[in-house]
Amino acid sequence: MCGIVGFIGERKAAPILFEGLERLEYRGYDSAGIAVLNKDVITTRKTTERIKMLREITENGQGIPGSLGIGHTRWATHGAPSERNAHPHVSNDGKFAVVHNGIIENYITLKEELIQKGFIFESETDTEVVVHLLANYYKGNLIEAVVKAAKRLEGSYALGIICAHEPDVLVAVRRLSPLILGVGIGESFIASDVTALISHTKTVMYLEDGEIAEIKKSGIRVFDKAGSPVEKSTTEINWNIDAAEKSGYDHFMMKEIMEQPRAVRATLEPRIKNGKIKLDDISITAADLKNVNRIIITACGSASYAGQVGRYVLEELLRIPVEVDLASELRYRNPIINEHTLLIVISQSGETADTIAALKEAKGRGARVLSLVNVVGSTIAKMSDDVLYTWAGPEIAVATTKGYSTQLALLYLFGVYAAELLGNRTGEECAEMITELQNLPEQIEQALILNDNIITLAQKYHKNQSIFFIGRNIDYAVSMEGSLKLKEISYIHSEAYAAGELKHGTISLIDNDRLVIALACYERLFDKLMSNIKEVKARGAKVLATAIVGNTKILTEADDVMYIPRTNPLFLASVEVIPLQLLAYYVARDNGCDIDKPRNLAKSVTVE
Ligand code: BG6
Repeated sequence: MCGIVGFIGERKAAPILFEGLERLEYRGYDSAGIAVLNKDVITTRKTTERIKMLREITENGQGIPGSLGIGHTRWATHGAPSERNAHPHVSNDGKFAVVHNGIIENYITLKEELIQKGFIFESETDTEVVVHLLANYYKGNLIEAVVKAAKRLEGSYALGIICAHEPDVLVAVRRLSPLILGVGIGESFIASDVTALISHTKTVMYLEDGEIAEIKKSGIRVFDKAGSPVEKSTTEINWNIDAAEKSGYDHFMMKEIMEQPRAVRATLEPRIKNGKIKLDDISITAADLKNVNRIIITACGSASYAGQVGRYVLEELLRIPVEVDLASELRYRNPIINEHTLLIVISQSGETADTIAALKEAKGRGARVLSLVNVVGSTIAKMSDDVLYTWAGPEIAVATTKGYSTQLALLYLFGVYAAELLGNRTGEECAEMITELQNLPEQIEQALILNDNIITLAQKYHKNQSIFFIGRNIDYAVSMEGSLKLKEISYIHSEAYAAGELKHGTISLIDNDRLVIALACYERLFDKLMSNIKEVKARGAKVLATAIVGNTKILTEADDVMYIPRTNPLFLASVEVIPLQLLAYYVARDNGCDIDKPRNLAKSVTVE
């Protein structure tokens, strides 16, 4: 997710902008920049290095005069990381500068229209259309130009705008991406989150969707998207800096768990237009798919467990054999791969060494490579024939949550898209699945709310020292991620096991009070799973089950139940993983573990 800052006052803007951007560095970025207006000249400085580099090339900001400016840290979504793509973006006449957080979904259409009008584009970004729209609509009143430009934009945007024609105004616009105003004494600020301005003022004003703020040293006026004035009140922040970085949550992991509805929505929505899936980002055709006789999904860690879910979903929809192979195994097993193999690579960071090596191995044997990655321009993205980006934004906690959830979202999207291309599903069957996909963010939200009993369950079970997760079909795939989440942050040993396999040996470990977490949401095999629950109960186990809301039969056997809303069985993993993430989080918290930075772990293992 990008970071925005802005300042207007008496003090020099550049040093204040740098400080604000440094407060946002925790969000992750691959380029940064500032634009400052002094008299009628906008000066910009950009880098693909760290903010520190910007300080070095501007004498800590002292070398850039001017008390009105905007700044930005970019997390690339459209256009790889580069100075050319870094914000702020400036109009051809140098009179307007813009920073943006979000995705302008109709930028291609707008870009074509503006090029027709003679505007020259310098970057590959979606954002640049905004600054040329402003130049196009400006007739002497900046707010009027902003209102007109905003009406043309589709998608999500938080904007910071300065204009050389109006040196006493900083403009902020908000739609679906957060933006906060800081109200100081004779000075004001804008920022993507409180962290970037809290050291200057704790008096803030939150913009609502569609609102436009005209910020002057003398005060702030807010307008709605039609340009009519809106009354706004200020709020006093009672957080400290550390809490602000986590938006008030105790850990990044909880913040990211709660961000999942937004992250899944951001990943799905831009790719569903008028009830159809549009994957313009990839070039795979029906003919290409018909040439595929085998799909291998390769990844590490949680990404591989997203792949395990993907195996059930893709095999069901595509009727092509799908297998999941850990990257660290695939790279050395002399695999039988050729031009009829589609390799799907899943990686949040796009830099995991084993996954890169497996990709190279498969590509060298003729496989076509589709990667699902969260970092634009990462090594895996660059090596792939096609890339679908998860738009989860930077993930800070080592244990992935929104990264995993958005990987699932892409697997579903690709599955439904390919099923229709192959003619395995009719248009109306796909339309129904697409509607269910669009409902997923809401169902994830419900799962978050439904499971407010998890804190109690964690207190009840957090002393267990060895736990089994069991399930069948997609429940089994989810149990792998649930087990890893618990292990990696609470250090409790646990094992995911195919429920039907337990009786072939491992059930010897089930003894009195052994905790078995039984995932019972895949309803086609519910009765089989209930038999497995009876098996372990008969040997003294305690059973904590997951089940679909309304299922009371589970209560006849399970000691406790975590309910989730009903979804299309193919997509249930996205919802069922939620209580398991929360359980792992609260168990780890009760055990006093370092949740965001678990011992021995790294966010991305870039070495073998
Ligand atoms: C591990 C991370 O180090 O690497 C996991 O802790 C992740 O969360 C795994 O799933 C693979 O990383 P990536 O970046 O390739 O998804």
